[in-house]
Amino acid sequence: MNTENLITTAKALVADDKGLLAMDESNPTCNKRFAKLNIPQTVEARRAYRELIVTAPGLGESISGVILYDETIRQQKLDGTTFLKVLTKAGIIPGIKVDTGAKDLAAHPGEKITEGLDGLRVRLKEYFQMGARFAKWRAVIAISEGIPSRSCIEANAHALARYAALCQEAGLVPIVEPEVLMDGDHTLERCRVVTEEVLRNVFIQLNCQRVLLEGMILKPNMVLPGLSSPPHQEVKEVGVGEQQYQVRLSDRQPDEERDIDEVADITVKSLWRTVPAAVPGIAFLSGGQSAELASARLNLMNLRFKLQLPWALSFSFARAIQQPALEIWCGQEANIKAAQQALLHRAECNRSARRGEYTAAMEMT
Ligand code: 13P
Repeated sequence: MNTENLITTAKALVADDKGLLAMDESNPTCNKRFAKLNIPQTVEARRAYRELIVTAPGLGESISGVILYDETIRQQKLDGTTFLKVLTKAGIIPGIKVDTGAKDLAAHPGEKITEGLDGLRVRLKEYFQMGARFAKWRAVIAISEGIPSRSCIEANAHALARYAALCQEAGLVPIVEPEVLMDGDHTLERCRVVTEEVLRNVFIQLNCQRVLLEGMILKPNMVLPGLSSPPHQEVKEVGVGEQQYQVRLSDRQPDEERDIDEVADITVKSLWRTVPAAVPGIAFLSGGQSAELASARLNLMNLRFKLQLPWALSFSFARAIQQPALEIWCGQEANIKAAQQALLHRAECNRSARRGEYTAAMEMT
């Protein structure tokens, strides 16, 4: 294992306030998103869409690394230049999704286990030779009555750790993604408890499998209330480190402001409790949040806590960067420029959020 290279790559992925762009949707997921916009679900449409993304002028100013999918890493621009070459030329580090998807966990209705360990060593070697320098594996944890079970958390944490060790052996920085899903009517507090339990288990397993923490990136969910949870009513005091913030109904903040406040505080508090300082960076997934909310929440975390945190707080968004661009493009060549502008705008907003300099006014420009 070349420890030095792993550490250098991991640091580069979170350097200069840049973040990651996930464009590694599997074909079924990509097709689902295309179908909603009446875009043909073909190899060529997927290729054209990914060409739009990787050729967006100046993408490398806000994006340090791009996560590709097996189909995409082998694709080319219409002129024959490989996407890998385009990205490398733009100073963007290519990464690759290597799990083969979340499948039903036997004997655990409603729970999933991510597969893909069989033959992984060989696949990682090939991806490294192609030019990839980091990889991603997503585990999925659902919240519901009696869920998640201990066995689901432990099985997924174990698989993440085995994947991460294999990545480092192959010279690839593992992005370790345990996603606690937003679906459901659970409270913010329940998401906090589950997220902390999952992260604790993940780091126990990573240590067990001898994963070099300095040579990995954690990709967690933000701590959020369930999508169908009732509006928040409580008066709460939340504290992080030595700082205390009161969140009161009498503050008369609009719901959204109050929500951004709480999510930022509780997310940082949970990470503080569970993520070792040796990890160089934490890059959030967006998980179905609106693009603006994802930026606002990341911004507030950095604005309030950046100077006190041992790790960089960054982004590794798919939907929260791509969705506006996809909706503008809609499969039409005439819309490519406007779609690229929308993509770059979201990437820039998130780079500003890493500095704590994102404002709502940026959305008006
Ligand atoms: P979202 O930002 O859309 O959640 O996707 C991130 C990701 O890469 C999921 O694995």
